[in-house]
Amino acid sequence: MRTEGDTWDIVSSVGMTALFVAAMRAVESKQPDALVHDEFAALFVAAADDPDMNQLLNDRELWARSPLGTEFMGLRSKFFDDLFRTAAEAGVRQAVILAAGLDARAYRLDWPQGMVVYEIDQPKVLEFKRQVLDSAGATPKADRREVAVDLRDNWPAALIEEGFDPTVPTVWSAEGLLPYLPGAAQDALFARIAQLSASGSTLACDAFDADVDLAQLADLQAEQLRDTPFGTVDFTSLLYTDDRADPAEWLTDQGWTTTIVPPEELAERYDRPLTAVLEPYAEMFNSIKYLTAAKPA
Ligand SMILES: C[S@@+](CC[C@H](N)C(=O)[O-])C[C@H]1O[C@@H](n2cnc3c(N)ncnc32)[C@H](O)[C@@H]1O
Repeated sequence: MRTEGDTWDIVSSVGMTALFVAAMRAVESKQPDALVHDEFAALFVAAADDPDMNQLLNDRELWARSPLGTEFMGLRSKFFDDLFRTAAEAGVRQAVILAAGLDARAYRLDWPQGMVVYEIDQPKVLEFKRQVLDSAGATPKADRREVAVDLRDNWPAALIEEGFDPTVPTVWSAEGLLPYLPGAAQDALFARIAQLSASGSTLACDAFDADVDLAQLADLQAEQLRDTPFGTVDFTSLLYTDDRADPAEWLTDQGWTTTIVPPEELAERYDRPLTAVLEPYAEMFNSIKYLTAAKPA
């Protein structure tokens, strides 16, 4: 269960979800036709030394029982990779990765000269990430700056303190974040992004439909996945489904141009047919909307 101001490390509560998606990226990275090559993902999982996550990483057979398959993570990673590549090609030199978790884009993408990448997440998550990357001798390919702050708090002040410049265009990502925020915090997040975004800024985020039956998902996890690592993290107890503004509608009202892409269109775009996944996960997965928004120059 979530509480106001709750905190976590990489093997607890919402922190564990960052480890879980890193495990999915590591598995996807091993596929012959991988849509993401994240050499750091497996390092994070190994360093966290959680038996279930290690099993996810090493047991190929297990993925046949995965509720979502790994296609999901490949498509999602590439979608956000493309966001950053497109923005960099358009001349944007400031990126903010909201809820960065174990996202290693600052290390794995070929950023242009002068690129500054801000990573926002809770302090213990960023601390774990730094320790693993430092021990591996990894070097960022951009000017990477950590902003250890809770996204329900006054994160713009912390971001500006690290050097963020609201007068130049920014590319923002909120990947795998929104359902972990209460409705009011999500609405405040977009209001703050809009306020901090100069003309020419872009953003992308993903979220599934709040109408998805979480109780049904929890039952399935408890019944069928309990003895597998997929049963370890009870996502449903970490999510908020209270009222919130629709980001696409809200941003459109603010004058941003928005585009929504459903998973099947992403699959077509990246030539990766989606395999059937278990109900009710299929309902959640199919309801995901990948949103891109641009503030006109
Ligand atoms: C599913 S993970 C996604 C991580 C990363 N974006 C990725 O896709 O690999 C969710 C992340 O959101 C972060 N997060 C959730 N709520 C947060 C909050 N209120 N403040 C800061 N970080 C938060 C968690 O710490 C975690 O790293």
